[in-house]
Amino acid sequence: MSAVLSRPAFDAPGYVKHRKLIAWVADIARLTQPDRIVWADGSAQEFDRLCEEMVKAGTLKRLNPAKRPNSYLAWSDPSDVARVEDRTFICTDDPADAGPTNNWIAPEAMRRTLQSLFAGCMRGRTLYVVPFSMGPLGSRIAQIGVELTDSPYVVVNMRLMTRMGRAVYDVLGSDGEFVPCVHSVGRPLAPGEKDVPWPCNPTKYIVHFPATREIWSYGSGYGGNALLGKKCLALRIASVMGRDQGWLAEHMLILAVTAPDGRKYRIAAAFPSACGKTNFAMLIPPPALSGWKVTTIGEDIAWIKPQADGRLYAINPEAGFFGVAPGTGAQTNRNAVETLRENVIFTNVALTDDGDVWWEGLSPPPAHLLDWQGKDWTPGCGRKAAHPNARFTVAAAQCPSMDADWENPDGVPIDAFVFGGRRATTVPLVTEARSWLEGVYLAATLGSETTAAQAGAQGVLRRDPFAMLPFCGYHMGDYFQHWLRMGERLTRSGGRPPKIFYVNWFRTDAHGAFIWPGFAENMRVLQWIVGRIRGEAGGVEHALGISPRYEDLNWDGLDFSRSSFEELMAIHAQAWRAELESHAELFDRLRDRLPPVLEQLRRELAARFATI
Ligand code: OXD
Ligand code: MN
Repeated sequence: MSAVLSRPAFDAPGYVKHRKLIAWVADIARLTQPDRIVWADGSAQEFDRLCEEMVKAGTLKRLNPAKRPNSYLAWSDPSDVARVEDRTFICTDDPADAGPTNNWIAPEAMRRTLQSLFAGCMRGRTLYVVPFSMGPLGSRIAQIGVELTDSPYVVVNMRLMTRMGRAVYDVLGSDGEFVPCVHSVGRPLAPGEKDVPWPCNPTKYIVHFPATREIWSYGSGYGGNALLGKKCLALRIASVMGRDQGWLAEHMLILAVTAPDGRKYRIAAAFPSACGKTNFAMLIPPPALSGWKVTTIGEDIAWIKPQADGRLYAINPEAGFFGVAPGTGAQTNRNAVETLRENVIFTNVALTDDGDVWWEGLSPPPAHLLDWQGKDWTPGCGRKAAHPNARFTVAAAQCPSMDADWENPDGVPIDAFVFGGRRATTVPLVTEARSWLEGVYLAATLGSETTAAQAGAQGVLRRDPFAMLPFCGYHMGDYFQHWLRMGERLTRSGGRPPKIFYVNWFRTDAHGAFIWPGFAENMRVLQWIVGRIRGEAGGVEHALGISPRYEDLNWDGLDFSRSSFEELMAIHAQAWRAELESHAELFDRLRDRLPPVLEQLRRELAARFATI
C-alpha cells in the first residue's frame, strides 16, 4: 500500500532514507499546499486504486474487460492534446548555451515565475511522490528521477513508462543522485469545489534548468508535457548530461535485424515525432523476406555510450510505449496491435458502443462511436473519431517483438544510424553517407513536415536536426560538435563509427500519393543497409552519398516498377539547390556555435549542384 500522509505532516514512510529528498518534498508541499501527500509505491494495488478513483472522477473510463482487460480510456481537455514547444524553456545562465532553437528565460526570472505559479497550485489535491528509474533499476547507466505531481493520471502512466516505485528508494539509498521533477496541472480546487475530468490550465510552462538538472512543468496533463521522465529527463536533461560526460541521448528507436544466416545487426534510427518510429521498431518483414527478423529494443529514445572496444552501445531508458494510435493497425503494425490487447491506458481515441476503443487505421470504421470529445460519430460525419495525436500507454514487456537484450544494462552495440524525415519531395528513399562527417551533415540538416505531435500547424516543412529540435537541451551547434567529436573519439580508439544512412519513406507522386509502400516493405531498405554494413550490397555514388540502384534492392514479392523507383530516388539539382539554401538558413541561425566543417561541406555540396 502507498503511504498517505496528511498536511502538515510531511514525514516520509520509513523506507525512504534520503533526507535531501524528504526535505525537498516538504519544500514543494509548503509551496504548492496540497491537501495530502501520497508516496507512490508502484504496486498493482496502487495502480488499480488510482484508476478506480479516476473512473469515479470521470477522468478515465474502464473499457469492457471482455474486450480490453484492465484497460482505460482518458479524454483530455480539447486544449491539452500535444506537446507545447512554444511553452518549453531551457533556462541556462547564458542564453547562448540554450541556443537559438530553444526558448530561453533567465533562471532567476523563471524561478520567480514558477514560485508564483506553483504557490498554492495543488490546493484541494493530492501531491504524489513518484520515484522512477530511466534505464534498468540499479544499472550503471540508469538515471533516477522523482516526480512530484498532482495528477493521478501521471502516476499510473509513469508506472507503465518507467521502472517506478518503492524499489527506486533502495537504489537511491540515503544520498543517491536524482533529477527533481515538479509537475502540476495548475488547477487548484477551492473547498468543496467539484473537479473537472481533465484539469489543466491555459497557462503552460515546461521548464528545464540544465545546470541544476531540474524540471518544472505547469498547466498540462498531456503525456509529453507531464510524464517528465520521457522528453524532459531522458532527452532534454540527458542530452546535457551526455554532452558533459561523453555520451549521446537521442530521439531514436533501436531495433535488431537478424539476417537469414543468423547474424544480428543493431540499428538506431531517428525520426521526428509521429513519423512511424513505433512501426519501424516493430517491423514484420513481408512474406517473401520471411528469413529476416526484426526485434525491438526501443521505439522512441536511445542512450548511447562509447565502450572500451571502440563501439557505441545503446540502451532504451524507457519501460513502456507512449505511442501514436491513429495509423496503428494489423496491416501497419501487428506487433503493436497485439501489445495493446490488455493493460493499456488510451488517451483521446474513440469509444465503441461495446466499450472498446477505435481509431482511424485500426480496422474498418464501426457504424457508431463516441469520438475523442464524447460526441456521437458516424462514418462520413466529416470529423476524425480519434484525435490525430491520440496515444496509448503500455508496458514494453507486452510487445511480442521485444529483443532478448532489451533490458540488458550494458546495452547493444550499434552497427548503423538511420535518420529520416517526412518529405513529400527532394529526398530519396535511402542514401548512405560516405563518412561520419557527411552523415552528421545529413542528420543536422534533416527536414520534416510537422505532425499532430506538436501543437501548431501541420504539414509545414521545418528543419529538425537529428529529429532533436524540440528535445536538445543545449545549443544545437554545440550538439553537432558533440557528434563530430564522438566520431573522432571512436576512430581514435581504434573503432569504426557506425555507418550513417538517410531515409525518406514519405515521397509523393504528382497526385500526392505516397510512392513507397512503407511499413513491412521498409525491410527491403533494412536488407540493403545490412548488405552495406557487410560490404556486400551494391550502390551508386552521387552528390549526397551512395544509394541503391534498382537491381541492388530485393524485389521478391513486391511489384514495384523501375520507373517508380527512379521517381523515388530522383535527385533534382534545382530542388537541391533550394534545399541547400534552406540548410544555409539553419546554419546562419546557429552560426555562433556552428562547427565550420559543416558550412564548408554545405558549400562543397552547393558547388557540386551548381554544375549539375
Ligand atoms: C513523442 C513525441 O511523444 O515525439 O514521442 O512527441
Ligand atoms: Mn518521440
